[in-house]
Amino acid sequence: MHTLEDVNKDRLPQHVAIIMDGNGRWAKQRGKLRVFGHENGVESVRQTVESCAKLQIPFLTLYAFSTENWNRPKVEVDTLMRLLVTALKKELKTLHKNNIRLKAIGKMDTLPEKVRKELEEVISKTSKNTGMTVTLALSYGSREEIKTAVQQIATKVKNNIISPENIDEAVINTHLYAHFLPDVDLLIRTSGECRISNFLLWQIAYAELYFIDVFWPDFREHHLVEAILSYQNRERRFGKTSEQLN
Ligand code: IPE
Ligand code: IPE
Ligand code: MG
Repeated sequence: MHTLEDVNKDRLPQHVAIIMDGNGRWAKQRGKLRVFGHENGVESVRQTVESCAKLQIPFLTLYAFSTENWNRPKVEVDTLMRLLVTALKKELKTLHKNNIRLKAIGKMDTLPEKVRKELEEVISKTSKNTGMTVTLALSYGSREEIKTAVQQIATKVKNNIISPENIDEAVINTHLYAHFLPDVDLLIRTSGECRISNFLLWQIAYAELYFIDVFWPDFREHHLVEAILSYQNRERRFGKTSEQLN
């Protein structure tokens, strides 16, 4: 089993994004309700955040709740929101200890008041930290993010603040929820599913993808290390030839 020491610190991904999937199936395998899986997924979040902090990865983005997840049964949605409030309250200490700044992306005005308030509080209390940035994708959908950006840009065009010829990739990027994040270098999805599920479509244009057949509550530091080692063994060509890079 590989450990953090095996990671090459000179070739770290600057932005790791994770689709934390498989909580429900993990619980079902144990004859429990889906919410039991979500409760146990919180520990994987804590450990993953601490491991990334130890490695000094600058940006970690976690997909916690999608715009599509609102279509789940009400009791599951309510439990997820409740868990979120508890975890935020509890983990503030861990965030400070690791000098982590918390951020969020998504349609914040659709979140219950209690969640939004707790989130805003932790975001503001950790805003002066200078280490890793951990971003929670909450009520997040990439198409919704892009749609909102298009609306904002269209309004600016209508009001003569910007002209259509000047709309470039940088302008689009500044209107996205995730404008403060660099492109994703490594995208990890747990649970064996090999899909993106509406996550960071703009930002993963050149990300390295890593799918692992482990349910999120079982995801541990050595799994993260394997993902990073796989990333470090790949050649990122960005359209060029291998010869051009060497
Ligand atoms: C991921 O686990 C957590 C959320 C999407 C909120 P799931 O709840 O999707 O678990 P599975 O994929 O059904 O096993
Ligand atoms: C993606 O997982 C969203 C999160 C992990 C928060 P889902 O379980 O909702 O994705 P699908 O529906 O299987 O694609
Ligand atoms: Mg799922």
